[in-house]
Amino acid sequence: MVITELELHNFRNYKSLNLELSKSINVIYGKNGYGKTNLLEAMFLCCIGKSFRAAKDPEMIGYGGESFSVKTGIAENSCSSIRVTYNRAKSKFVEIDGVYVEKLRYLFGNLLGIVFSPESIRTVTDGPDFRRRFLNIYICQLSRDYYYSLMMYNKFCEEKNKILIERSRPDPIEFEVLNENIASYGAKIAYDRMRFVDEVNKTAARIYRYITDDTEDLTVGYVPNIPSLLDEIRKTSGETEDAGNAVQPPEDEKRAEIERIKGVFFADLTSERLVKREFEYGRSVIGTQKDDLDISFNGMNLRSFGSQGQKRSAAIALTLAVLEIMKKSTGRTPVLFLDDVLSELDDRRQRNIAELTKEYQTFYTCAKSDIMRNIGADGTPVNYINVEKLR
Ligand SMILES: Nc1ncnc2c1ncn2[C@@H]1O[C@H](COP(=O)(O)OP(=O)(O)OP(=O)(O)O)[C@@H](O)[C@H]1O
Ligand SMILES: [Mg+2]
Repeated sequence: MVITELELHNFRNYKSLNLELSKSINVIYGKNGYGKTNLLEAMFLCCIGKSFRAAKDPEMIGYGGESFSVKTGIAENSCSSIRVTYNRAKSKFVEIDGVYVEKLRYLFGNLLGIVFSPESIRTVTDGPDFRRRFLNIYICQLSRDYYYSLMMYNKFCEEKNKILIERSRPDPIEFEVLNENIASYGAKIAYDRMRFVDEVNKTAARIYRYITDDTEDLTVGYVPNIPSLLDEIRKTSGETEDAGNAVQPPEDEKRAEIERIKGVFFADLTSERLVKREFEYGRSVIGTQKDDLDISFNGMNLRSFGSQGQKRSAAIALTLAVLEIMKKSTGRTPVLFLDDVLSELDDRRQRNIAELTKEYQTFYTCAKSDIMRNIGADGTPVNYINVEKLR
């Protein structure tokens, strides 16, 4: 799939813009603060309905305005346009091919997008929130049920937390029903995360070796905050599996596995010791809302022991791994957004990345177009967009 056109109204610093885009490489360049990242943010908004900068929707409305609208024209895809509109009355509207969709989750998977920005390194360097965000923005594009499970899970957790904060002794049946729902949706989330991380691990390891000239190993492991499930994962880690197997298991196997995780999670949630702790602390103590990833190089924790360059290379490897996984599991080519990435890499690394991404429509941003000398060096035509001329 490729984005052929971008139309903006009152989005960030753009009052009104209509831009034609190239199906292969687009380099958006210009001075700092002129709106390069804003363009990527607008396009990515059509993938998941949210900003990749974790900005709140009202922040994207042009100063002093009441609403914004972003529309992408798309080719080589099942739909040919997506429009996201937002107004201050806190309503967000999504239209696919001009037809209004009721739920945000129906947007997911229509336009597949992957982004690497200066913020992406935080997946490796910062707290678990950033790693859960990494999981969420990509798994939701692969599975609409995932987003629904997240919403339902959060809803039941909130209800449970209310009870725990009040520290009132709840009706045991009501409490059990809440835990049952939490275990049920949590198991679906854990299952999707487990499979996705498994794929990321295999693919990112290969890409990281390529980026580092075969000198370093990268491993990515899922660390669920469900103690019994984590024990199981630790016991089985190191067992060999078929490499590169992205094929979905049969539905009944998947259901059985989710049911099994649910049982494990429910048992953890209802153990006497845990319930006692939850009432002591006045909040939920375990669950997928606290999941994490263990990202290591050569057997050492990357966050604690990695250099700046190693962290950066690992973050790029994670992004490119998702790109491959999305393509393999959907049979479609996602769009790649690389915000300010190549300017800090040497020529050889720039060329390696260009080589790894050549079959995808790619949007690069940079402050100066000549930094991009390795882009299109193989003869691929490059569409240069000077943001300074767009205002
Ligand atoms: N809601 C908004 N309304 C109008 N302008 C906005 C809004 N939000 C941000 N801006 C403007 O957008 C500009 C920043 O855009 P952006 O982050 O895309 O810049 P950039 O070209 O990527 O810069 P850099 O090279 O530093 O990364 C700033 O000048 C900021 O004032
Ligand atoms: Mg920028």
